[in-house]
Amino acid sequence: MKIAFVGKGGSGKTTLSSLFIRHLAVSGAPVVAIDADINQHLGAALGLDETEAAELPAMGDRLALIKNHLRGSNPRIASAETMIKTTPPGEGSRLVRVREPNAIYDACARPVELDGGAVRLMVTGPFTDADLGVACYHSKTGAVELFLNHLVDGRDEYVVVDMTAGSDSFASGMFTRFDMTFLVAEPTRRGVSVYRQYKEYAADYGVALKVVGNKVHGPEDLDFLHSEVGDDLLVAFGQSDWVRALEKGRPPRFEHLEESNHRSLRTLHDAADAMYELRDWERYTRQTEHFHLKNAASWGNERTGVDLAAQIDPEFVLGEEVAAAV
Ligand SMILES: Nc1ncnc2c1ncn2[C@@H]1O[C@H](COP(=O)(O)OP(=O)(O)OP(=O)(O)O)[C@@H](O)[C@H]1O
Ligand SMILES: [Mg+2]
Repeated sequence: MKIAFVGKGGSGKTTLSSLFIRHLAVSGAPVVAIDADINQHLGAALGLDETEAAELPAMGDRLALIKNHLRGSNPRIASAETMIKTTPPGEGSRLVRVREPNAIYDACARPVELDGGAVRLMVTGPFTDADLGVACYHSKTGAVELFLNHLVDGRDEYVVVDMTAGSDSFASGMFTRFDMTFLVAEPTRRGVSVYRQYKEYAADYGVALKVVGNKVHGPEDLDFLHSEVGDDLLVAFGQSDWVRALEKGRPPRFEHLEESNHRSLRTLHDAADAMYELRDWERYTRQTEHFHLKNAASWGNERTGVDLAAQIDPEFVLGEEVAAAV
């Protein structure tokens, strides 16, 4: 299951991603955690110290390796140079799984020990000014998008992505890659305005979106969120002393997180799991192609000097059967 946490800066994306990852780890599920946020803090939120976090290999620096692994022997993709972030998998491509060992995990993932067991952590690497705005070609999240486009994930295995609600993810189609998107919103007008923008994009592509309230103090906060987002409000987290202690560098054991927040995490887990039955690999594949054609026409063809539309394998549909067959 692919799950994204998005929202406005400072809303608590990283905090709630990290709590959800801890919750999944305790449940015994295999987890790949990905930091694709502008502010790279997921490692710290998962308990790494500054040195450990700084030593995490950046996916953005290993694009050539990632592309070469994924394109495998796909005859439609002549080289890593002609593979852009939206290039879809086809016959001959290497698909990736959550649990397997592979060259991408070897190069980009590091195990992080949590109370409940270890998860794999991957990070895009720090964003610079050049990453924000128009620089599609250099996009840091391109590595994550390629990974997700080639990923075949089953029930009870999870990829959790901490990311922004920025224009980068809308331009590329990254926002359509998830079984469930949790939009973290504080009970403020700005928090809710990000939700409205996201909702518009989401509606056009059938993206499952739920609002997760954060730093909610009482009934008035909850009423505010409910009046603004209606039934899209899934659950709300309160101010957490456990999180505060973590921030002070004194991480308590996860079981000591407030019971109400544990309950909220279970609600997130159930909401994500419920999406498995609604999966549509055919639609997922067609959306990959849609965004590839869009990016090819707007900058990719010119940039690579080839007709990128020819990379689309019309017969290919991603899914658990095709992954089992290779
Ligand atoms: N439920 C909570 N209880 C206590 N503190 C919280 C809670 N949620 C978030 N915080 C604190 O609020 C601050 C911002 O949270 P966080 O870094 O998770 O937000 P973010 O959306 O990832 O921000 P950025 O956009 O900077 O990446 C952090 O100091 C975090 O510890
Ligand atoms: Mg963050």
